[in-house]
Amino acid sequence: MSHPRPSPAVEGVKPYSVTPPPGVIDLKLDGNEGVAPPGGLLAELSALGPDVLRRYPDARPLEHLLARRLGVRPEQVLVTAGADEALDRACRAFLTPGRELIAPSPSFEMIPRYVRLAGGELIAVPWPRGDYPVGEVLSRITPRTAVIAVVTPNNPTGAVASAEHLRTLSDAAPKALLLVDLAYTEFADEDLTATALALPNAVAVRTLSKAYGLAGLRVGYVAGPEAVIGWMRAAGGPYSVSRPSLALAAMRLEAGDADVRAFVSRVREERARLHSQLAELGAEPIASQANFVLARFRDAAWVRDALGSLGIAVRCFPAQPGLENCLRITCPGDAAACERLLSALQHVLQCKAVCVDLDRVPVRPDAAHALAKRCRLAGCSSDPEVRERLGGVAEAFEAIAVAGPGGLRTALADAARGPTWLVSADADTLRLARSVGAVPVGLTTADATPEELHEAGAARVLTDLMQLEELLP
Ligand SMILES: Cc1ncc(COP(=O)(O)O)c(C=O)c1O
Repeated sequence: MSHPRPSPAVEGVKPYSVTPPPGVIDLKLDGNEGVAPPGGLLAELSALGPDVLRRYPDARPLEHLLARRLGVRPEQVLVTAGADEALDRACRAFLTPGRELIAPSPSFEMIPRYVRLAGGELIAVPWPRGDYPVGEVLSRITPRTAVIAVVTPNNPTGAVASAEHLRTLSDAAPKALLLVDLAYTEFADEDLTATALALPNAVAVRTLSKAYGLAGLRVGYVAGPEAVIGWMRAAGGPYSVSRPSLALAAMRLEAGDADVRAFVSRVREERARLHSQLAELGAEPIASQANFVLARFRDAAWVRDALGSLGIAVRCFPAQPGLENCLRITCPGDAAACERLLSALQHVLQCKAVCVDLDRVPVRPDAAHALAKRCRLAGCSSDPEVRERLGGVAEAFEAIAVAGPGGLRTALADAARGPTWLVSADADTLRLARSVGAVPVGLTTADATPEELHEAGAARVLTDLMQLEELLP
């Protein structure tokens, strides 16, 4: 069968997608989103009447409002469908085959895609952490350099560039566009928007997706020299942001920033706690000025899966060079959710006890004794004769709770007083584990298929109890 052929720029590019972790997620900390905006916002939208749906959008009122806030002329502001569209338009407006964009690596993963789609070439400069690599970027500037992208705070590391770095780059490449992505600037020690706007060749890209908690609206904006904004305006469609989104964004901004400031300061506190907790638990966190912390783990895939089994989604980057075994964890911006995250990390990374569902998991003496050397081994069962049934293996268990019918929850809660993992071949017991904060680990038996156990939210499904040894801290 013949197919239409895509352009070389698209061929081989996979659509953006993030594999969700296992488990039923009810705390999403993988997208760097903010907390929900005030509930009244939606009610205000319905008061606008059906014309908000009938008419093509007009972004000018929002561009005027943003221009007033930024102290620039309205012609210097373009509202875009998220910061994403601003980055895409910058690439379309300034790149073509033979032109280059210099960007840090690792950085926001959409930038290399937009460069490629525009036919340009990406020059990646390593910036794993710490100071912005200004010297290395300067050394890569050539007559082909059309754009220098500075993402500050950088995603996924949270590292920042300084005002001096922006001025140096602007001076060194006056004919290139300095694309300053400030998606997380509200969380940083210094907001570089004014610095960028004072430069003749820079644009500042901002978004309402993060600190303002409006990622679902898809509203971002870019501000800079009028001519540059004019070219970016030309490099895309006229109605990329819907009328309801424009209206809601304006209402959100007009309501004032007091709640945003309170949210930002909560996030900054959480960030410090998360950083020190991760370090204490043996991970290697990177100093961040954004609303997330990136850390390297011994086995990031396991940590991601185990957090997923407790309902918490975090972001991993399995295919990105330099980010092997790294996880990016968004600060929740909510006291209860933050406590839950810190406790879950402790359960996963500092497992003190493995509790085995002795009614369903067969335990060989070698496995029991090997595990007992690594952590406290506990068991739970509904069989009063369990010790006799286990014979010599029972000695490896520090405690065996015998729960009457319906008493398993109490037995588990007892075992899970410290950081605990629970091993069972029963879907309901695995669900129960999560409800008491213990990491559920499935074990396949003749009665339990891996699919059932995954479905019940198991962090991992093992075929042999000994496989726990590799996962234990
Ligand atoms: C650095 C950076 N820039 C831009 C964006 C895009 O944000 P938006 O939701 O406004 O499109 C993101 C989103 O994660 C980001 O991390």
